[in-house]
Amino acid sequence: MSDWVLILGCSTGHGGATAERLAKDGYGIIGFHFDRGDVKKEAESLKQKISNINNGKVHFWNINAAAIKTMDEYIPKIAEITGGDSVKLLLHSIAFGTTTNFFSDKPVTQKQMDMTVHVMGNSLLYWTQKLFDEDLLGEGSRVVGLTSEGNYVAMDGYGPVSVAKVAMEAIIRQIGWELGKHGITANAVQAGVTPTRALTKITDNWEEWVEKTKRRNPMQRTTMPEDIANTISLLLRPEADFINCSIIYCDGGEHRSGSF
Ligand SMILES: NC(=O)c1ccc[n+]([C@@H]2O[C@H](COP(=O)([O-])OP(=O)(O)OC[C@H]3O[C@@H](n4cnc5c(N)ncnc54)[C@H](O)[C@@H]3O)[C@@H](O)[C@H]2O)c1
Repeated sequence: MSDWVLILGCSTGHGGATAERLAKDGYGIIGFHFDRGDVKKEAESLKQKISNINNGKVHFWNINAAAIKTMDEYIPKIAEITGGDSVKLLLHSIAFGTTTNFFSDKPVTQKQMDMTVHVMGNSLLYWTQKLFDEDLLGEGSRVVGLTSEGNYVAMDGYGPVSVAKVAMEAIIRQIGWELGKHGITANAVQAGVTPTRALTKITDNWEEWVEKTKRRNPMQRTTMPEDIANTISLLLRPEADFINCSIIYCDGGEHRSGSF
């Protein structure tokens, strides 16, 4: 087992906070992000910050991590970085999908549905298959994906992403079920509403969502990316070796609270 982790969606939000936290825990960070403009600069400054924390053990690639071509091209580079040893973690924290209703002036198209479900759901399966085939996942490795309450609650504009979340949860359950015998676990972490860049793209009313969430949440605040980073840090400990095929809620109890 190497001390490297692989984060898909490493530049901002949950993935960015997790990259920083795991660097503090002593891990090397291999990350993919897909950013343009100012966010690209944010990614560069996070990379520098991580490099200062863990003495340069960081590789960030700005490319579409959901493309099969990317997986095939970069997995040999990942193997070179880890010396052929397994990564401790494969985290899927990509937010990239269509936020269109099924019935509206511009109803969601098949292409948009297929893209969203692939990028936010199925791509985790193909990464896992390819890493496993190359022995880059092994005894003690974790596969983690991020899910949300939208996996069972209908919300404005969230339909396509909701389908992707349900697909991802099924994929994670099946990965853990099939790879558990190799000591590899797979779990989903369900975050509460978190003010990240992705949230601002789901709805123009995101500030209202944040305020309503604060009132609704038993702990009277939204989830922060650092909460998710802490949870993932805990999941990497040996004490979490037997947690598999599960959904871990990190939302202050939001999912137990009444609707908006
Ligand atoms: N924000 C919330 O309220 C919330 C709640 C529950 C779950 N989640 C989930 O958390 C995950 C991360 O979202 P976030 O809120 O941190 O968003 P974010 O926009 O801050 O981060 C998304 C990351 O994905 C990267 N990315 C996008 N498309 C990519 C691609 N094709 N290839 C590689 N990288 C790509 C971006 O560069 C960025 O690093 C998503 O799966 C999201 O659904 C978010």
